[in-house]
Amino acid sequence: MQKSQWWKEGYDFSQLPEMKTESPGPESRRLHARAAGIIKGLSSQVKLHPVCFKEGFGVVLTDVDGNRYIDFSSGIYVTTLGHCHPKISEAVAQAAKTMMNCHDFTTPVKVELLEKMVQILPAGVNGVQLYDSGTTAVEAALRAARAYTGKHEFLSFMMDFHGKSGHAVSLAKMNGTNGAGRAQGFYMVPKPYPYRPLFKKADGSIDTDAYIDYYEYFLANATTGQVAAFIAEPIQGWGGSVIPPDDFYPKLKKFCQKHDMLLIADEVLTSMGRTGKYLAMEHWNTTADISTMGKGFGNGFPVTAMVADERIKESFEKISASTSYGGNPMACAAALASIEVIEEEGLLENALRLEKYFIKRMEKMKREHKIIGDVRVRGCLLGIELVKDLNSKEPFDEAGKMVYTKAFRKGLAWIPAGHILRLSPPIIMDEEIAAKGMDIVDEAICETEKELGY
Ligand SMILES: Cc1ncc(COP(=O)(O)O)c(C=O)c1O
Repeated sequence: MQKSQWWKEGYDFSQLPEMKTESPGPESRRLHARAAGIIKGLSSQVKLHPVCFKEGFGVVLTDVDGNRYIDFSSGIYVTTLGHCHPKISEAVAQAAKTMMNCHDFTTPVKVELLEKMVQILPAGVNGVQLYDSGTTAVEAALRAARAYTGKHEFLSFMMDFHGKSGHAVSLAKMNGTNGAGRAQGFYMVPKPYPYRPLFKKADGSIDTDAYIDYYEYFLANATTGQVAAFIAEPIQGWGGSVIPPDDFYPKLKKFCQKHDMLLIADEVLTSMGRTGKYLAMEHWNTTADISTMGKGFGNGFPVTAMVADERIKESFEKISASTSYGGNPMACAAALASIEVIEEEGLLENALRLEKYFIKRMEKMKREHKIIGDVRVRGCLLGIELVKDLNSKEPFDEAGKMVYTKAFRKGLAWIPAGHILRLSPPIIMDEEIAAKGMDIVDEAICETEKELGY
């Protein structure tokens, strides 16, 4: 049992989700049409289901037609501790009334945050710099790695995502318009994907040694040998909640050490309890040389961080590390209150309790549905991979869209990604609400299978 369920007070959960109109309802459609005439470049999530939200509280989102949804999106992996936690909202409001910005001068709340971070992060991680988006933290990590090693190239993983600046897109899959030319010295290699292994042992299971051997070969033959760092998303978010085998990160760390390159863990999405730890790399007893934190770090307030150990933190001095908004008083108040809430309410433990429930439930769904190829769970970071055929494993994008919109209409706010259903419930949830959300996913998959003749 969680220590506090503030979000339950005054709400009737027996009626959740509560759909008073169709979704999107008339008022959602009207407001969305006004916005969409002006704002362009909306995500597929919004285009597929253009609902207009009015309010969020705890695990519930309410739209402008009065429909109440179970939140399995946390924004986009952001409001990990639920919407509008009174302690976090109050901390931000107080800071907003006191002082909004003094560049990177020290403030009392910043000192408290920095010291708290050193307490909760793995032993030896005691260097911090604060930013305002995941992308700026990633960019800073790359600059710090160059400053520390004196080298300039980078290795990253196919299907990982690191943001949308010039260097961040160079670390990831590009298309003709958002990154037509990879920046010089940026290289990508495959990452172990247990459901779709590229390198296999004789028994068909994934061979992580073969991946490391390939990186050796690649380093020797495709780079100039000047690789400053290998950057990894510990668990892929956008790529589809892909979790490498347990032996992979310790091996990758050794590989980096052998070649005097840093390991950067981009934990923008996976940090702050999303997977049941402050940093997901803790699951593998691996401490990266530099880590980034974001999204849930301020539980909705834009605050991110780059953190590193004693050896590396001095290199922050060499990269002109400060920004206009990084570490402003509201940001520090939000991040500090978020850490305190995790501690006070035992939320890392709750995320791991929920993980057990989700594993059991999703494994059962996999046995029961012909279009579920794989299910993946770590804490409250979940993925369901839909395929046309369990043998061919052909991705089933059409089914992904159908399941997403059907579930949304039934009252589940969540995140699509082609054929991979991504679920990101807040870690404050209890099993009862988690089960209601999974019932909706289950029903939507059943209906989709029926319509598609499975
Ligand atoms: C792993 C990872 N890194 C970096 C980013 C970029 O963060 P932001 O959108 O805050 O710039 C994201 C965003 O989704 C992410 O998931």
